[in-house]
Amino acid sequence: MEVKAWAKLNLTLDILRRRADGYHDLEMVMQAVSLHDTLTLTPGGEGLRVSTDLDYLPDDESNLAARAARRFFRARPELEVGLDIAITKRIPVCAGLGGGSSDGAAVLRGLNELTGAGLSVTELAALGADVGSDVPFCVLGGTALARGRGEQLTPLPPLPPCHVVICKPPFPISTPELFGRVDCRRIARRPDTAGVMAALEAGDLAGVARRMYNVFEDVLPPRKKAAVDQIKTELIAAGALGAIMSGSGPTVFGLFDRPDLAREAARRLGEEYRDTFLAEIPRAV
Ligand code: C5P
Repeated sequence: MEVKAWAKLNLTLDILRRRADGYHDLEMVMQAVSLHDTLTLTPGGEGLRVSTDLDYLPDDESNLAARAARRFFRARPELEVGLDIAITKRIPVCAGLGGGSSDGAAVLRGLNELTGAGLSVTELAALGADVGSDVPFCVLGGTALARGRGEQLTPLPPLPPCHVVICKPPFPISTPELFGRVDCRRIARRPDTAGVMAALEAGDLAGVARRMYNVFEDVLPPRKKAAVDQIKTELIAAGALGAIMSGSGPTVFGLFDRPDLAREAARRLGEEYRDTFLAEIPRAV
């Protein structure tokens, strides 16, 4: 069975407070995009085997796809089968695009179908929360408000059709490390989350785009911030209605209403940055 794992973008990301359990309470408007990994699930054989086409990715328990499969079979032990999971990666790794989380979510959705378990999306998302904070959204897809650790989800009206240019500068960012740089009392600028939700309600793409913001941008180390700002500036100059960093970065994306401008921006950025993609908003995920 082949399953698609869609990348996620943060249209907004706000950090409300640090919690006693070491996590942070967040408020994020999240969006699934057409850029995706492809997973092939093959039942049979002994135990669980995970492989990817990137040799530096783990194929052990630290791979979220493996953890998702274990979590699924822990919930429904009577359905456990030997399983081979082969992942073809396209979503850049450690990039703020939820690549690993999305692979985990795809395993949950795929196993639900493969085994005929018949779990609801809500039940699958609850299993996903044990695998990683972004997994529940990746199970749900579409457009949603995520709160708490990221697991409290409210579906939102879809982002109007648009073209997305996604561009990752050539360095990784560690999510826990970046959270460590945040002092919640000193966040000077926050996204207009309510404004973004109102613009989604009104089907106003430009209204969403100009209100997008991610508080992580302000705590990036200076050289990484300069690299992120450079891509944002290039996207806006190329005609993007808005451009921000996604998740804990460093990937930047811009929303375009005109396909010709998006294509040209992707072409130009692609000359400088290997991880540049032109994506769409999938109608149903
Ligand atoms: O849940 P997940 O394993 O994806 O989170 C990775 C790390 O990111 C956590 O260990 C924590 O340091 C940080 N995190 C956080 N608050 C969240 C989500 C993640 O502090 N809401």
